[in-house]
Amino acid sequence: MQIYTRHHLKQLLEERLGPKRYHHSLMVEQAAMELAALHHGDWYRAGFAGLLHDICRDDHPSWQQYYMESHGFPLSEEWRLNPQIWHSVCGSLYLQHDLNISDAEILRAVRYHTTGRAGMSQLEQIVFVADAVSEDRNFPGVEELRRVARHSLDEAMFLCLSHTLEEVAKRGLPLVRESWEAYNEYSRKKAIGAKP
Ligand SMILES: [Fe+2]
Ligand SMILES: [Fe+2]
Repeated sequence: MQIYTRHHLKQLLEERLGPKRYHHSLMVEQAAMELAALHHGDWYRAGFAGLLHDICRDDHPSWQQYYMESHGFPLSEEWRLNPQIWHSVCGSLYLQHDLNISDAEILRAVRYHTTGRAGMSQLEQIVFVADAVSEDRNFPGVEELRRVARHSLDEAMFLCLSHTLEEVAKRGLPLVRESWEAYNEYSRKKAIGAKP
């Protein structure tokens, strides 16, 4: 894997992102490292993926669409209608093709940080959850979500995906397949775990 210093990656992010998103990236890096330490995960890769997860977030949607399509990502109707999740695909492709990062787990953690998927690795879960509980987040219920995340990544994933589901439904948009597959997996785990 190509070696980058944190300093270099921060410089790159500062060039590619607005100040708010840059700050968010640093906060997600921090949250991901903390969650990895708490759950005995790989804090270095968690921090790396957390830092870079939104690297394409501020790119223009038309560039994101071009970038995905030019790398052979097929945009289904569901994807076409949800441009806010495109940056996770772009980010993963950008890491792979523009930064020559070949660590498949890091690439997947960035790729699925908006949608989730069934069968997520611990690193993918950590980055997904870190994005929701980072210091800069202040939505109602975030403190409870932080408490849950310290205790159980599965439970935190369930809460995050439930929230995604509600938001998508509120806006009358379709849910991409990988999100409902992820939701079904975590809700199943929760329901089985709750059985007497
Ligand atoms: Fe994101
Ligand atoms: Fe983010």
